[in-house]
Amino acid sequence: MQDLIASSIKYQQGTLTVLDQYLLPHQQHWHVCNDVETMKDLILTLKIRGAPLIGLGASLLVAHLAEQGMSQSALAIAIDELEATRPTAVNLMHCMAKLRAALAETDYVAAVVSTAEQLFKEDIALCDSMAERGAALVNKGDNILTHCNTGALATAGVGTALGVIYKAQQRHGDIHVWVDETRPLLQGGRLTAFELERWQIPYTLICDNMAASLMAAGKVDKIFVGADRIAANGDFANKVGTYNLAVLAHFHNIPFYVVGPLTTLDTQTLCGADIEIEQRSPNEVRGVSGSFGEAMWAPINAKVYNPAFDVTPASLVTGWVLDSGVYNQSDIKQGILKQLKS
Ligand code: MRU
Repeated sequence: MQDLIASSIKYQQGTLTVLDQYLLPHQQHWHVCNDVETMKDLILTLKIRGAPLIGLGASLLVAHLAEQGMSQSALAIAIDELEATRPTAVNLMHCMAKLRAALAETDYVAAVVSTAEQLFKEDIALCDSMAERGAALVNKGDNILTHCNTGALATAGVGTALGVIYKAQQRHGDIHVWVDETRPLLQGGRLTAFELERWQIPYTLICDNMAASLMAAGKVDKIFVGADRIAANGDFANKVGTYNLAVLAHFHNIPFYVVGPLTTLDTQTLCGADIEIEQRSPNEVRGVSGSFGEAMWAPINAKVYNPAFDVTPASLVTGWVLDSGVYNQSDIKQGILKQLKS
């Protein structure tokens, strides 16, 4: 396979390495990944995360294993196991479906390798298109609120929602970002803050529960978020807390945009209620952990509800920023998403 380099994943001279997103921003540690168990663990512990990146990480590993001589039947099992790691982000299923098709070809090694390479390069191009289209919605001086991490760390390219913000800053300058810290795993506080600092884009970190008062004070002009799965009717799943923002944006009359590539669109899923939501460990809510270790503040047996994602209904969305265009309520009601995927 050819060398493929992104912010948080690299395939270089036959070695696959993954930047540990659990240890960022205070430690920058790259894991070498040579086997399915390691990749499964990296995904399950969110060391590799973000809807597009999970799919790409799993794909690069499968291609690497194919090149290393793994049998067709073992590769098929690897694809199934990797696909089962996280249920909500549909990009993983999209990538694994492409690899399954490649595996059915006579020269399956070449087919799997070229499929993984294509998926990686396609993601870079999809990010660029979304960033261009989304940046056109931003004005100089805008205060933009975002949730979770949707940047270069989460994709092979510049990102989804954060890619829009990056492009808008390049185009207009004078952008300021409100960064939701994103409890429980703090992808905003740890990763988005890190990326915005690296890109020298002014930002202010807030706890998730501060967004309402900021909106009431007129300090948020627009909201851009990513997606883990967009259903046929425009409902979408994204990091838990996104729905809160959509409700607040509606109340305060603030434009609310979801940004996602074609690979996040799942028209087989008719509406948000049909999206499986990943439930995660209670300890993520009982305390917090990271490069500094672990701190538990709740009673050790505290009963916990910890869905990793929530669903935002289409009715609360101002615009769907996809790589192919920006779609509004009327486009969605006319079934544009189904047409895009057909
Ligand atoms: O649990 P995570 O960190 O993988 O969740 C990530 C998100 O919810 C992102 O908003 C989504 O994947 C879009 S990122 C390009």
